Amino acid sequence: MEQNILTTDRLILRPWQEADAEALYRYAQDPAIGPIAGWPPHTSVEDSRHIIRTVFAAPETYAVVLKETGEPVGSAGIMLGDGLHSAEMQEGEGEIGYWIGVPYWGRGLIPEAVHRLLARCFDDLGLTAVWCGYYDSNTQSRRVMEKCGFRPHHTETGKTSPLGDVRTEHFMRLTREEWKNASENRRESMKKITRITHDKKQYLPLLLLGDEQESMIDRYLERGELYVMLDKTDHPMAVAVVTREGDGVYELKNLAVTPERQRQGLGGQMLDFIARRYRDKCHTLLAGTGDSQQTTSFYRKHGFTYSHTVYGFFTRHYDHPIVEDGKLLDDMIYFKKPL
Ligand SMILES: CC(C)(COP(=O)(O)OP(=O)(O)OC[C@H]1O[C@@H](n2cnc3c(N)ncnc32)[C@H](O)[C@@H]1OP(=O)(O)O)[C@@H](O)C(=O)NCCC(=O)NCCS
Repeated sequence: MEQNILTTDRLILRPWQEADAEALYRYAQDPAIGPIAGWPPHTSVEDSRHIIRTVFAAPETYAVVLKETGEPVGSAGIMLGDGLHSAEMQEGEGEIGYWIGVPYWGRGLIPEAVHRLLARCFDDLGLTAVWCGYYDSNTQSRRVMEKCGFRPHHTETGKTSPLGDVRTEHFMRLTREEWKNASENRRESMKKITRITHDKKQYLPLLLLGDEQESMIDRYLERGELYVMLDKTDHPMAVAVVTREGDGVYELKNLAVTPERQRQGLGGQMLDFIARRYRDKCHTLLAGTGDSQQTTSFYRKHGFTYSHTVYGFFTRHYDHPIVEDGKLLDDMIYFKKPL
């Protein structure tokens, strides 16, 4: 089957080209990347060019290219039974492998690429199951697999890595059926995001989770566009409020997920929904937040970068101290995402 160019919100996955050698060397020379995955750091631009001509010329091997800059910053691909992988891999199954340059770690870019590759595996290539393996202690790779719906399958000990040392490798697996069910559930919850135009204050308990002073919410709720994510019984799970702040500039004023549904990806789904919905009428989406590690890393993971700081915002506008992650908030940090 001809190799496609695949796209996601933030990425283009396309075949490697020799002209990528410099970019590839920039990231793949870093000893933090290859050895943990079982391959040696690249030694020169020439070495990287050779790898593009050989290893990366394999079908279904993609350069992970940032849409924003056009630069390849990692690699991801699907391998089909080449004998190197788990002894348990059957005909009609595949294995996904990936890495990304250290400056881009922690932004959820590889999970985004892997989600797209899974659609390629099951929808286009007709695979019945996909495997993914990580060497003992590579928890960051295990997290990618968990986020993409893989389940632990088995562990193989005494495996000689391509670097020649002996390691323990853990395998995770995702069947087509599991993937279809998960996609169905995702679509279900996406469908259930609705715009609310009347009686917006009925969602005050949720809105107060995102912005804890009612008088501050009153400053934007009426002019803002309110979205609510409902579960199957029409119970609200998450809210978001977006306001128009200028020509082509919208701001996410409030985003909150009910406590019992937090850490399940709903906030991210809400952000993706807003990004898609506002893509046609806005070029920049802003989001202001307190300077807490948890929220700033959430926005960075979803493609936001630092924009500016409004000093003393929380201490000036709120009638009580706002504490998040055990930290007293003072300045408002603005993030921006180009749409
Ligand atoms: C594994 C890897 C591809 C993850 O890609 P990514 O796009 O950073 O994925 P995520 O943003 O979802 O982060 C995954 C996990 O990495 C860890 N992580 C994130 N940022 C990190 C950083 N700066 N330093 C160390 N670990 C970090 C976190 O545990 C995170 O999980 P969390 O979101 O639950 O906190 C990347 O770390 C990598 O290239 N590692 C080296 C090569 C490799 O191991 N490949 C896989 C071989 S099996």
